[in-house]
Amino acid sequence: MMTEGEVAVLDYGSQYSQLIVRRVRELGFVSHLYAPTQLKELNKPGAVILSGGPRSTSEVDAPDVDFDALRALDVPILGVCYGMQLLNIKHGGTVKPGVTREYGPARLIANDSVLFKGIPADSQIWMSHSDTVQNLPEGTKVIATNQDAVPVALQWGEACFGIQFHPEVTHSHQGTKILNNFLGLAAGRLAKFSIASFKEQMIERIRQEVGGREVICGVSGGVDSTVLAVLLHKAGIKQRCLFVDHGLLRKNESEEVQAQFKEVGVPIEVVDARETFLGALKGVTDPEAKRKIIGNLFLDVFFGAADHIEVMAQGTLYPDVIESATSGSIASKIKTHHNRVDRVLELKEEGRVIEPLAELFKDEVRALGEALGIPHRALWRHPFPGPGLAVRVPGEVTEERLEICRNADAIFIEELRRSGWYEKTWQAYAALLPVKTVGVKGDERSYEQAISLRAVVSEDAMTADWVELPHEVLRATSHRILNSVKGVNRVLYDISTKPPASIEWE
Ligand code: XMP
Repeated sequence: MMTEGEVAVLDYGSQYSQLIVRRVRELGFVSHLYAPTQLKELNKPGAVILSGGPRSTSEVDAPDVDFDALRALDVPILGVCYGMQLLNIKHGGTVKPGVTREYGPARLIANDSVLFKGIPADSQIWMSHSDTVQNLPEGTKVIATNQDAVPVALQWGEACFGIQFHPEVTHSHQGTKILNNFLGLAAGRLAKFSIASFKEQMIERIRQEVGGREVICGVSGGVDSTVLAVLLHKAGIKQRCLFVDHGLLRKNESEEVQAQFKEVGVPIEVVDARETFLGALKGVTDPEAKRKIIGNLFLDVFFGAADHIEVMAQGTLYPDVIESATSGSIASKIKTHHNRVDRVLELKEEGRVIEPLAELFKDEVRALGEALGIPHRALWRHPFPGPGLAVRVPGEVTEERLEICRNADAIFIEELRRSGWYEKTWQAYAALLPVKTVGVKGDERSYEQAISLRAVVSEDAMTADWVELPHEVLRATSHRILNSVKGVNRVLYDISTKPPASIEWE
């Protein structure tokens, strides 16, 4: 849905394109991503940004821009990376195809320019490109170079700019300021962004997309599916929310999720499949086999309960879209459970899958959730993997082992909440290790189980660092676990970063 005065970002395929949109929103203006071919359909945008992209402008079928249409808009224009090379060519210059890709930090030596107002003359920028501009058309102003005096920012005319680096990533230290300076050129003409109007727009878009059809929505109680279900509810969509209890949930989780949905006023159907899952996992110890069984069974149970599907809603976020687009088969192997492919693909092809959150990042989903009136606690729940505790009890999944894991986990989470560390960590949990270790009980030696605690911080789950929890929190947790969780005589704290470790145990 186009908004007059929005900042239109033309997507040339960079994995950062949506991040530009997000930065513009953070700066307080409405922004959306468009295919370059949609340029002509834009409704009086306030500014246009051409994103980066993986292709080379020298390729025969390289993505292009309708330059006449672009100029006719008469608004400030910014080309990033590929966008800058394209603009240079359109102004009559040339681009030199690169042999290798330059990736990583570089210096921005800025000249006096409106684009670099208020930033230091020398700052770090982030590059990811292979081609470079070669001949600059007459009248082009070089407004910044890198440390080797290579031009990295150009200006053509009054309000058309190109930058070779990515202002949208945090590694470009002055990136947001540079974007803000650029948007300043369109001051007064830009549509202001507010989460409240964004919410209304999303609701309107969902209504249009769904029509009068019934929507099936799988909910887990996590942030994404909760926001999605409430959004559909507020849009007045006829929906069925299915919550599959696969028996691999945390302590009291099923009850808590039901209470949470009651609180937000969205009815859910609980599908109790605990016995089916536990039965299927009996005797299975191989991690990949466990994931496969859970993934397939989840699909069977979900689609079985859903019965006939008119439309299915998925809580896919932008980083999920990127992850499956960029890491392909590896990602799908790592997260077998994400792989609802066949049936979902079929539905997708038939235009019966909606993913209303697909352009949002996690924190934007939380902000949207807040605007929808979803309680804080629900919005700040840690992520929980689809295969549940099965990936936190390496070895065979039995009710007895799950129970130990659940009890230890509940204590850890309680201590984190009590000490104020729950919301300072991105994810935390207890895992039950598949070893027995020696201990003493009274006068006798005992062989009992070991629990490993893990607490990490992360931005996107692709990398993670372990959290330096205060010793008192670890001590209180260990004390309580050792004294109240039967069968455990050892508690460990996991100090592994990702990579090389992953966040989950399996
Ligand atoms: P890893 O263990 O790969 O986890 O470092 C990264 C993030 O993804 C979650 N995770 C999953 N989520 N299905 C999911 O929905 C899965 O199969 C799965 N495996 C891991 C994990 O909890 C962490 O947040």
